[in-house]
Amino acid sequence: MRFADWKYPDMEEGKVNPYNWVVQHLKNFKLGFKTDIGAFTYINARNGVTVGDYVQIGSHCSLYSVSTIDNKEGPVRLERNCRIGSHSVIMPGVTIGKNSRIGAFSFVTTDIPENVVAFGIPARVIRPLLAEEIGSVIEEEST
Ligand SMILES: CC(C)(COP(=O)(O)OP(=O)(O)OC[C@H]1O[C@@H](n2cnc3c(N)ncnc32)[C@H](O)[C@@H]1OP(=O)(O)O)[C@@H](O)C(=O)NCCC(=O)NCCS
Repeated sequence: MRFADWKYPDMEEGKVNPYNWVVQHLKNFKLGFKTDIGAFTYINARNGVTVGDYVQIGSHCSLYSVSTIDNKEGPVRLERNCRIGSHSVIMPGVTIGKNSRIGAFSFVTTDIPENVVAFGIPARVIRPLLAEEIGSVIEEEST
């Protein structure tokens, strides 16, 4: 399975890591176990970014705990096993609840509860996760 040989990536302040994603303010970044972050994702952890266990982030995403364009600041939290579609932007102060799935190309400006699908600009909750989707989550975690 996907995580059989998972290990924590080598990370250096502001430098692209072997998986081609980058973190600024690394000392304020917490990375969970068996996470999967896609290439060209940018994480600014100045005010804290926490990525929970089993979280999956597509390529070309941005996680901003500070946004200088509009002067917003606040910690970003991605809770256990949530999934972020590629090319999405997560704004300061946002928490995404456990298991929830964010559609590709979303602009997430408010908290997203657990166990839902959300997408759009700005991202809105579209529907709850289906029982079989939550089931697949549990199955994946136990393999
Ligand atoms: C959000 C998502 C999880 C929903 O999957 P789903 O439940 O199978 O949804 P469907 O494909 O059945 O689409 C349902 C509707 O939502 C729309 N939709 C789906 N994803 C969307 C998105 N990201 N943004 C806007 N609209 C979206 C579809 O066009 C469809 O609209 P319609 O009902 O008017 O035809 C999925 O579309 C997605 O974005 N996944 C991310 C994939 C990704 O980034 N992969 C690369 C990293 S591994």
